[in-house]
Amino acid sequence: MSIDLSALVANTLPMPVLVADAEQRLLYVNPAAEQFFGSGAGLLLKQKLDDLVPFGTPLIGLIAQARARGASVSERTMDLTTPRHGERVADVTVTPLAKPDGAVVLTLQEASLAQRIDRQLLHRGAVRSMHGMAAVLAHEIKNPLAGIRGAAQLLEDQTEDKTLTQLICDETDRIRALIDRMETFGDTRSLTRAPVNIHEVLDRVRKLAEAGFARDATFRETFDPSLPDVSGNFDQLVQVFLNLVRNAFDALPENGGEIVLTSGYRPGVRFGAAVAGERLSLPIEITVRDNGKGIAPELMPHIFDPFVTTKTYGTGLGLALVAKIVGDHGGVVECDSAAAKTVFRILLPKAAEGA
Ligand SMILES: Nc1ncnc2c1ncn2[C@@H]1O[C@H](COP(=O)(O)OP(=O)(O)O)[C@@H](O)[C@H]1O
Ligand SMILES: [Mg+2]
Repeated sequence: MSIDLSALVANTLPMPVLVADAEQRLLYVNPAAEQFFGSGAGLLLKQKLDDLVPFGTPLIGLIAQARARGASVSERTMDLTTPRHGERVADVTVTPLAKPDGAVVLTLQEASLAQRIDRQLLHRGAVRSMHGMAAVLAHEIKNPLAGIRGAAQLLEDQTEDKTLTQLICDETDRIRALIDRMETFGDTRSLTRAPVNIHEVLDRVRKLAEAGFARDATFRETFDPSLPDVSGNFDQLVQVFLNLVRNAFDALPENGGEIVLTSGYRPGVRFGAAVAGERLSLPIEITVRDNGKGIAPELMPHIFDPFVTTKTYGTGLGLALVAKIVGDHGGVVECDSAAAKTVFRILLPKAAEGA
């Protein structure tokens, strides 16, 4: 019996190799492909390629291209991520086979860690350009909006029933507030900073929360009274902790929910690879903790991204804004979550002595 050398080679190749026929049915998968897709050949060979790759993937187009050209085509860093197989990025090469008619060989080269990080950065770049777009849009919307509101106010003087004109004013105000929030992302003006007593910030936040959404929530505070001032912007810091308290409140159970605010001074905490040899010192630590339902592990890496929300009426902008503002302050925000214990920890620089 002669050894089938080609099969042997494909079987030992470290990269995933698959053969699909003209109808996208799988005819062959090598062990690396089994590993890549996390299931055995037996199962994979019963499936079609479409079942394994994300819906609307450029892979299908690439296959058509290879068939039409009668030559191999490749695409780098193709996203093959599916909910079932998890995050998968690979360079893909499609080579048409002479027989059976329309069949193709797919070889995947899984992206290295470095490439995956690159892709994440690309993602961030997209977010950044979105900020630029937000700024332009905001400008284009605000002007006509002011006109609409002004016209509604004029109309109001001439009509008996003010409910409709009031509605127009309220809604334009709401859109304006939304745009203002969006604009904060695009804002690259440097922040006006002054020494801020973080306990005053937290007091304000608690008062605002108790007067509004968190009327019947239980708050607990453990503050370090000797805490030095932080270097920052009062209003923006209020926004940060208001967003965190709002999220904590939203997660609380019907009964026995509690939001805990703490502050502490940790002069020993220093941060890594610093600019010009200086180690960044972020001694002021504030935490917002709740005993609510917690954050799912798969959501964790994305909670600070804009538009990520699990709430029906959520905007997904709360934590993105928190990250933006804390970053502008030269601080760090971290999150730990387990069932009944979610902690957001903010570390901030202290105000210069005598500032
Ligand atoms: N304390 C928390 N407990 C549980 N989940 C949270 C908490 N904070 C944030 N999250 C999750 O992070 C998501 C993003 O929060 P955020 O950016 O404030 O947007 P939004 O509140 O509009 O949904 C929330 O939808 C929620 O799923
Ligand atoms: Mg929120």
